[in-house]
Amino acid sequence: MEVKNKIILALDVPSMEKAVELMDKVSPYLDTVKIGYPLVLAEGLESVSRVKEEYDCKVICDFKVADIPATNQKIADVTFQAGADAIIVHGFVGADSATSCLESANQHGKEIFLLTEMSHPGASRFLQPVSMDIASMGVEMGITNYVGPSTRLDRLGKIRQIIGKDSFLISPGVGVQGGNPKDTLEFADALIIGRSIYLAPDPVEILESIIDSIEL
Ligand code: C5P
Repeated sequence: MEVKNKIILALDVPSMEKAVELMDKVSPYLDTVKIGYPLVLAEGLESVSRVKEEYDCKVICDFKVADIPATNQKIADVTFQAGADAIIVHGFVGADSATSCLESANQHGKEIFLLTEMSHPGASRFLQPVSMDIASMGVEMGITNYVGPSTRLDRLGKIRQIIGKDSFLISPGVGVQGGNPKDTLEFADALIIGRSIYLAPDPVEILESIIDSIEL
């Protein structure tokens, strides 16, 4: 996946009105948006197609899919039918669950991102002990897109080693959660950034400063 300016906007705003207000300002700098439960539960899955159509961007649905294979498949199918270009899938539920999302993606000509380790402090207890194993499982399955944390660069580096240089790695946790954009891009192909942009008094100013700081 190509990501303009190596920044994926986490559009975790509570309404389409807020989404439009923000996207009207920042869309010239971005071509990839991550939409998750905050917006979809408030406004429905139509928010995915509306953002795609109005701003001509790719949408990654961050549904952190983590169910049995049959249910994962239904979630992935409906997400791709709504227009999503990719879906984020948890790895800890195992290869069969992730495979059902991968098969759905292949049928629809779309992609999945395998979530290895999350970026928040609580991930250290349950996810950290298995996250490298999840990355290895992804490689065994032939998955080429991954999510890993910018808040623990040593671990992001290890994930990169496991998935190889040709896999596509996107990384949340920059800004409010403490991750540094430029350092993260030593290992990741693109950053996922939410609050630092949408909570800023001037989202364009902050976006421009992040783009400058990563010296593309
Ligand atoms: O606001 P902030 O920049 O911290 O947003 C990070 C985004 O990335 C949120 O949408 C969060 O749900 C998501 N995310 C994460 N850690 C992961 C996967 C996704 O923080 N491992």
